[in-house]
Amino acid sequence: MRLDQFIATSSPLSRKEARRAIHASKVEVNGEVWKDTGKHLPAGAQVLLEGGQLTLQGERYIMLNKPAGIVSATQDSEHPTALDLLPAELTEVARNLHIAGRLDADTTGLLLLTTDGKWSHRVTSPRVECPKTYRVNLSTPILDSTINTLETGVMLHQDPKPTKPAQVKVLEPQLIELIISEGRYHQVKRMLAAAGNHVEALHRQRIGDIILDSALEPGDYRELTEKEIASIG
Ligand code: URA
Repeated sequence: MRLDQFIATSSPLSRKEARRAIHASKVEVNGEVWKDTGKHLPAGAQVLLEGGQLTLQGERYIMLNKPAGIVSATQDSEHPTALDLLPAELTEVARNLHIAGRLDADTTGLLLLTTDGKWSHRVTSPRVECPKTYRVNLSTPILDSTINTLETGVMLHQDPKPTKPAQVKVLEPQLIELIISEGRYHQVKRMLAAAGNHVEALHRQRIGDIILDSALEPGDYRELTEKEIASIG
């Protein structure tokens, strides 16, 4: 890894600030001052910034209980984003933190964020078929024919392929639990619309074996456990 990148990843400094620190002789690598910002570090190098040792943090894995009104983006000029709900310690140090499986702004519940691109790919890739469980409030009582359509596969507007069979559990006439293993654009809302109903409210409860922690209030987050991380893929 380049020296400036290492510093930007392992300290609160931005890449620009890291370069400034390097030029100001504040960085030592294996006991020597390095002034070349782009020089690659040898394996196991000891890097000191103003005398303090820096270590690379491992990958980060977060679950957030997303409230309504928050967009699943890392940046948005108009609306608050999921990253705005996290502390600077995470968003500044873990610069490549990204969302593994977006939710619409009005959808609530389990949102996963990570720095690990391979892991997030396993959450979102249609090939992996990681199941996602949603609690869906409907505008009208669900019909048996609608359940049948959802469980068989639905042709979505302007989508050439039917959806993969979903699992439906009726909790109340206007409240169902729906498990899908794809992540198409507005998928649940479009599935219900195509099957003759309408989604009033949508809440994601579970992704694979990761269940939204009931101790998390809307807007709260926590790091995933090793077991939760390992459960994906
Ligand atoms: N399906 C939707 O329609 N919206 C979401 O936010 C998630 C799944």
